[in-house]
Amino acid sequence: MLSEGFRQPAGKWPVDLAVYKYKIIHKGEKMNCIVAVDKNWAIGYQNKLLARIPEDQRFFRETTTGKVVILGRKTLETFPGGKPLKNRVNIVITTRKDYRADDAIVVRSIEEALAEAAKYNSEDVFVIGGDSVYRQMLSFCDVAYVTRIDHEYQADTYFPNLDLMDDWALVEISEEYSYQGLTYRFCRYERKKTK
Ligand SMILES: NC(=O)c1ccc[n+]([C@@H]2O[C@H](COP(=O)([O-])OP(=O)(O)OC[C@H]3O[C@@H](n4cnc5c(N)ncnc54)[C@H](OP(=O)(O)O)[C@@H]3O)[C@@H](O)[C@H]2O)c1
Repeated sequence: MLSEGFRQPAGKWPVDLAVYKYKIIHKGEKMNCIVAVDKNWAIGYQNKLLARIPEDQRFFRETTTGKVVILGRKTLETFPGGKPLKNRVNIVITTRKDYRADDAIVVRSIEEALAEAAKYNSEDVFVIGGDSVYRQMLSFCDVAYVTRIDHEYQADTYFPNLDLMDDWALVEISEEYSYQGLTYRFCRYERKKTK
């Protein structure tokens, strides 16, 4: 999965060069993010998801299986048993020095997460939350898979509203689906190309 033409240099790159290294290796290509939002771009409440929609969970699983996911420590702890996602490389970000998660790569900063992500093709890397990680990594993403749920929830965590950001455009929107009275659509946003 290493980028074509890239040879890992001997030794470890200093973390403060990670962003530079990421840009050199990927020459402007960026990663993906994937999220489910409500009408207000809310994503969670009290460290839980706002809704569990089976088709959306299936979409998430199918899109990320076999790929690399980057997530915050709090999001990891929302998963069943607090365990990393199966059949994916999980990169978990935490400031906790002694934090261990079986079957996951634990990193201590966004820069370290980027340094890990740089080992893979950027189209295979997905930022999967939560709020704090989306905000810090959105500028490294070019594509956002957003499930838009047509409902307003009580919430304490949010994704940046891409409809209000000049450098993002909605490029695909699915038909409307419904589950237990909730309606939702699968949307794909892309970062606008700079000339
Ligand atoms: N709707 C969706 O698609 C979706 C997807 C994912 C998550 N969510 C929701 O989002 C909520 C969680 O979001 P959140 O913002 O509270 O938590 P989060 O982003 O999942 O995790 C935050 C934690 O990540 C670590 N972290 C973040 N930035 C860091 C940095 N620069 N350096 C080192 N560590 C860093 C810290 O861990 P330490 O405290 O250990 O240092 C921080 O407390 C939950 O409600 C979850 O259900 C929703």
